[in-house]
Amino acid sequence: MHNLLAILAAYLLGSVPFAMISSKLFGLADPRTYGSGNPGATNVLRSGNKKAALFTLIGDALKGWLAVFAAQQAGLSDLGIGLVALAVFFGHLFPIFLKFKGGKGVATAAGVLLALDPLLGLMVLGTWLLVAYVSRYSSLAAIIAAAAAPLYFALMHGAEGQFAVVLVLALALVAKHWQNLQRLMAGQESKIGSKKKA
Ligand code: G3P
Repeated sequence: MHNLLAILAAYLLGSVPFAMISSKLFGLADPRTYGSGNPGATNVLRSGNKKAALFTLIGDALKGWLAVFAAQQAGLSDLGIGLVALAVFFGHLFPIFLKFKGGKGVATAAGVLLALDPLLGLMVLGTWLLVAYVSRYSSLAAIIAAAAAPLYFALMHGAEGQFAVVLVLALALVAKHWQNLQRLMAGQESKIGSKKKA
């Protein structure tokens, strides 16, 4: 029961769409109506408002971190913590507050990983920053960082503990970037900060 309530609370927290909240706060259009149509920080940045994008990024990351941190502090089992991690992440992807059409989960996954395993989170974040800096593609950075996450985990701890959780996060995140992958391969993906329609 304890675990079930925590999972439900994590799903609801993950469902809170910071891209929509920040767009309302900063007086911007609904991010689902421009750019890639994704309610996420990268797309909010296409509005030209960096503060709104940063607010989205921090909010979406913080909810992932907070759910896992709270589960750890509440003394949930490893299985319970893993399920809470998945619940907050899938809440972001399939939010009840947006008719189950949510974002791609990059910031929320970063927050989840930072709480689950801070070193792993920092390594994945470093990978994202490096690829983003070199390529200027947010989506490519997310795909590569996601693919690297289970590899880093396996190298550090073996395929044990929360490995399955990290693997599911990575697979779902790459699947959510399928259209980005097609645009990247067609040379049609927009770069970070570009207002061009993705
Ligand atoms: O955070 C999502 C990012 O990886 C891709 O976003 O808007 O270019 O599809 P977007």
